Amino acid sequence: MSQTHRPVKGTRDLFGTEATGFLRIVNSASKMASSFGFQYLETPILESAAVFLRSLGDTSDIVSKEMYRFTDTGGDDLVLRPEGTAPIARAFVSLGLTHSTPLKVFYSGPMFRRERPQKGRYRQFYQFGVEVMGTDSPNADVEIIDLGLRILRELGLANKIQVRINTLGDQASRAVYRETLRSYFEARKSELSSDSVLRLEKNPLRILDSKAPEDQKPISEAPKLAQSLTEPATEFFGKVTKGLSALNIPFIIDDRLVRGLDYYNHTVFEFTTDHLGSQNAVLAGGRYDGLVEEMGGPKTPSVGWAFGIDRVHLLCEDSALKLTRVALIPASEQCYWPLYQLGREISDTELSVESTYSGALGKRLSKAAKTGADFALIMGEQEMNQGKVIAKNLKSGEQTELSSTDTSGLKAYFKK
Ligand code: HAM
Repeated sequence: MSQTHRPVKGTRDLFGTEATGFLRIVNSASKMASSFGFQYLETPILESAAVFLRSLGDTSDIVSKEMYRFTDTGGDDLVLRPEGTAPIARAFVSLGLTHSTPLKVFYSGPMFRRERPQKGRYRQFYQFGVEVMGTDSPNADVEIIDLGLRILRELGLANKIQVRINTLGDQASRAVYRETLRSYFEARKSELSSDSVLRLEKNPLRILDSKAPEDQKPISEAPKLAQSLTEPATEFFGKVTKGLSALNIPFIIDDRLVRGLDYYNHTVFEFTTDHLGSQNAVLAGGRYDGLVEEMGGPKTPSVGWAFGIDRVHLLCEDSALKLTRVALIPASEQCYWPLYQLGREISDTELSVESTYSGALGKRLSKAAKTGADFALIMGEQEMNQGKVIAKNLKSGEQTELSSTDTSGLKAYFKK
């Protein structure tokens, strides 16, 4: 017997309700991002390792232990992308878009990190993200937080999400803070995890992001960045929080929020939830004013976020993502194409209308019910001649005669 294969640990085949849910989430988010003026940009899954090494920071968890990095048979140092922002900044320069600012783009697709798999955490996971490239206006930070919330609200998640926000300040603020932290943690070096002792040399800010249990006490007592903020950095953050208040967006200022990637400055934020156990970050992002320069482009202050589609899907109620399925059942051959035409008119992204190909009426009905259709739309010659059609609820058995010319009435019947 030939060998059977399983998907690699931390990866999975998407099918059935999860696959349908993913499509619905991406469609809904894409529509909303387009309505805010964002354009779709798709970058390759494979990138040169150099795109991520410095930009994410060599002390970040991703670069130091989670990247799928390999040398291909031609000797190229490659990575399966662990995130989308550095590739977008690379593409912004490669595509020569540096004069088309501000440029607003969105993307979605698989990302790869070699983390320990658990509920809501995978090695191949999926993100939907947006980036605004080339503006230093704090209003852009507010606008994308608003966009993120609107997307999640549309998916019925408004009550499951908290917005947490913080500022990492500008370069000058961080230079002061880095030294303050260095001397603080130096004095408590013996309490730190070995990873954090390493971080102390290279980037003491990273220690604040540590999950190691022994690091938590020294972290909780560490000096706060707010005390090292320069005046312009304080002013910038003030404008962001004022903008959020102007839009009535509730938020929590979380001065421990530092994010795990090096490219951030000024605003950072996370949308968190209490419904996913330890994987509580659903959407995360912030401002990254120096990343494009790092990719060889001009100074391009930018801001963006990404949400985990897997996590959003776990949070969504089935009802928010479910497609209503309608099976077309012609009672005779003459009705097949008229019924088909009607089906095409009423179908949309939330209403899937499927043909049935063979069998007598009763057989088609029971097969449709068996394959999970919610309704049958039945047309015989009598109905056809009278401009009518019969809708049958396959779950309750209830049957109603409706007008076949009133397509919006029909749609409303199936969606109620
Ligand atoms: P991140 O915080 O690394 O940020 O990831 C963003 C989101 O991706 C997380 O909040 C989470 O929902 C999801 N995610 C991350 N890792 C996993 C995993 N192993 N399994 C399932 N879901 C996961 C970034 O990636 C930045 N590029 C976001 C950004 C865009 N910043 C500016 N623009």
